[in-house]
Amino acid sequence: MATVKFFGNEAVPLEMHKVRIVQKLNLPPVERRLEKITEAGNNTFLLKNDDVFLDMLTDSGVNAMSDRQQAAMLTADDSYAGSATYTRLEDKLREIFGMHYFLPTHQGRACEHILAKVFVSPGKVVPMNYHFTTTKAHIVLQGGTVEELVTDAGLEVTSANPFKGNMDIAKLRAVIDKVGAANVGFVRMESGTNLIGGQPVSLQNLADVSNVCKEHGIPLVLDASLLADNLYFNKTREDHCKALSIREITRRTADLCDIIYFSARKLGCARGGGICIRDRALYEKMRPLVPLYEGFLTYGGMSVREMEALTVGLDETMDEEMINQGPQFIAYMVEQLVERGVPVITPAGGLGCHVDAKRFVDHIPQSQYPAGALAAALYVASGIRGMERGTLSEQREPDGSEIYANMELVRLAMPRRVFTLSQVKYAVDRIAWLYANRKLIEGLTFVEEPEVLRFFYGLLKPVSDWQNRLVAKFREDFGDSL
Ligand code: F0G
Repeated sequence: MATVKFFGNEAVPLEMHKVRIVQKLNLPPVERRLEKITEAGNNTFLLKNDDVFLDMLTDSGVNAMSDRQQAAMLTADDSYAGSATYTRLEDKLREIFGMHYFLPTHQGRACEHILAKVFVSPGKVVPMNYHFTTTKAHIVLQGGTVEELVTDAGLEVTSANPFKGNMDIAKLRAVIDKVGAANVGFVRMESGTNLIGGQPVSLQNLADVSNVCKEHGIPLVLDASLLADNLYFNKTREDHCKALSIREITRRTADLCDIIYFSARKLGCARGGGICIRDRALYEKMRPLVPLYEGFLTYGGMSVREMEALTVGLDETMDEEMINQGPQFIAYMVEQLVERGVPVITPAGGLGCHVDAKRFVDHIPQSQYPAGALAAALYVASGIRGMERGTLSEQREPDGSEIYANMELVRLAMPRRVFTLSQVKYAVDRIAWLYANRKLIEGLTFVEEPEVLRFFYGLLKPVSDWQNRLVAKFREDFGDSL
């Protein structure tokens, strides 16, 4: 992969695109930021975007689109059934993944809903490298259970391991032996493993998992939502991939799987989703659910304009200079924070920069949601919106007890090709300030707690008046600065 070296030796992630449409941002003063996070119940999901400076909540549906994607949207063929737009999308997916069948959906979790309805019933087990919130919720809703089999290295927060998303093959064999292959709904591998810091899966590991699945006749399902980052890491970190093109790595990845599903809010820089299937019998099992829950088979809940954008976006994802932008910006941010002593997940992965709240605010017990408290504090300190990925994002046990997350993270997503380097520098600066003042941060407690996916709309309050003290310190240090 081509790199651009600087005379001064500084490692700069150089943009291989230029900005042609911009959106004005607001940075409210710190006092107003405190008001807004209070109104939002200390839940960054409930902030209004007008009150947010850098929206690093997610990369879902907010990656920058290219001029070619925008242009393609104007050529969409708007018909309910059999649109030419749909055919173009289906053809592109066949070309890239080499799987014959495709079912369109409105987004990634809709694929998970369909997969869970078809393959999961009470007593069924779904082994995976690591769960994603919506994936697990759908499997549990069908009466199934999730077995997380990521290697132990995957849960080490700081590490030099290049593929922390890999599955432990011995653990996979042990689960299959224990429950019996007939009770395994499917095996799920997640590219660019989201909840452990956007950490990739090696092609070799996927091949090993695939072999075990074939031995036992179990379908292997790949969640390819974060495939673009994963492909970049395969290419740059895995020796036998270095000579392969992105298209070749993609095809080798797909050839190992029976089903590939994805959120097109991530993969392909559009909004939508879908399931690619190799085998006709599996396709026919899932097909009836698409018109029932999503929409007719030639749109599945997506607008034709989004499908056009997705077709072009998928094609552009095969370009190394497109998919290297996110990981390079993330690596820059991670390295800058490490230099300043801020605890973050290493090595840098895809998706975003993940701040380790367990160490950042090690004085806050998990029962007071350290990552949630840090996300709220960061908004107050900077106007940056991150996302809690820790205990708050878990669901309580049926008896009401908390499940304490393996990791307490504040995820600062890097929507692809959206932020400039000076904005990333601002984020680094404010996070470093917050780290220097970390003892001011205290915990949160629930005011209103929903039963399912509570992190989306639960309301919390600080356990003391710590947020006022944080604002006072900000004024002391930054004077009248925004
Ligand atoms: N799988 C993975 C790995 C994801 O990251 C997501 C979404 C989904 C499935 C569900 O897709 O949102 O289109 O329904 N992740 C978003 C995020 C929500 O912010 O990380 P969806």
